[in-house]
Amino acid sequence: MQIGSVKISGKVILAPLAGITNLPFRIISKKCGCDLVYSEMVSSNGLVYKSEKTENYLKNTSFEKPLAVQIFGSDSEIMGKAAKIVESSGADIIDINCGCSVKKILKSQSGSYLMKTPDNAQKVIESVRKSVSIPLTIKIRTGWDRSGEQAFNLAKIAENAGVDAIAVHPRTAQQGFKGVSDWSIIKAVKELVKIPVIGNGDIKEASDAKKMLDDTGCDAIMVGRAIMGNPLLFTQIKSLLEMGVVPEIKPSMIINIMREFVEESVIHFGEEKTCFMMRGRLGKFIKGFKGSSYFRQNLTQLSSIKEIMDLIDQLELRVN
Ligand SMILES: Cc1cc2nc3c(=O)[nH]c(=O)nc-3n(C[C@H](O)[C@H](O)[C@H](O)COP(=O)(O)O)c2cc1C
Repeated sequence: MQIGSVKISGKVILAPLAGITNLPFRIISKKCGCDLVYSEMVSSNGLVYKSEKTENYLKNTSFEKPLAVQIFGSDSEIMGKAAKIVESSGADIIDINCGCSVKKILKSQSGSYLMKTPDNAQKVIESVRKSVSIPLTIKIRTGWDRSGEQAFNLAKIAENAGVDAIAVHPRTAQQGFKGVSDWSIIKAVKELVKIPVIGNGDIKEASDAKKMLDDTGCDAIMVGRAIMGNPLLFTQIKSLLEMGVVPEIKPSMIINIMREFVEESVIHFGEEKTCFMMRGRLGKFIKGFKGSSYFRQNLTQLSSIKEIMDLIDQLELRVN
């Protein structure tokens, strides 16, 4: 599929996930077969007012390309300036977050608050569109009620303003992540606009991805939570969509991905930060493994990469 001028090699996309889809995780996702990766959301204020921490979110490598970087904010002028900074950082696609429903984001009238304020959403989209020449996507929810009217309204606004694709996570803002996503909203948005629509919500296994494509007619699927501890799900989805089979994932494959994730993280974050980060991350990869609780308990005590790699070696001996 094509998002504006950017060709995407397939239909499998990594969702933006704050605190998760950093550079090392995006590289791992690509290695597992993902066709397009989204960064975690980046504050437009942080970029424009040159927060060093925020600027670090823009670091990227050629391996992960094409890369979509998501920004959030509600001030059209600042969003336009931030978009320019993102474009000059080498991103291939820019995305506007119109779906986040976390309190702090809503307080700043950003994220899914933009679905409540379509006039301002339009200003923000138009400002970003004017500021950059790379393709532009937006990510939306159902809106503030279940009808989907706000999603349809914003989708039309976006299409008319020159947005190149729309990702739809069909839960209401109040729902957060509760309940199930209503895929009929993805189908309705797809029928409403001519630009590509990316379906998102509750893809837990490869068959869900195929079902979403079949049921909604969406152009591509985006996976969030299920990938956090299982990037090899991308391998299974790609294989199912392209060859009709779901390959078995062996523990040794997961263990190798864990090693690569640690190695990539050290390159980009250094040893100390990687050791800290891995405490919350590696345990998610080994749900149901023999020896997983031993691994998790010990992981929190470790302060060097050598110790982490040794612990992974021990885990490998237990599962084989
Ligand atoms: C930990 C976490 C962080 C998230 N961060 C973002 C974000 O930065 N930007 C965004 O648009 N959505 C974010 N989301 C929402 C996801 O992108 C996705 O829309 C949602 O999880 C539904 O997809 P899933 O069922 O595949 O997880 C986040 C979700 C989670 C669980």
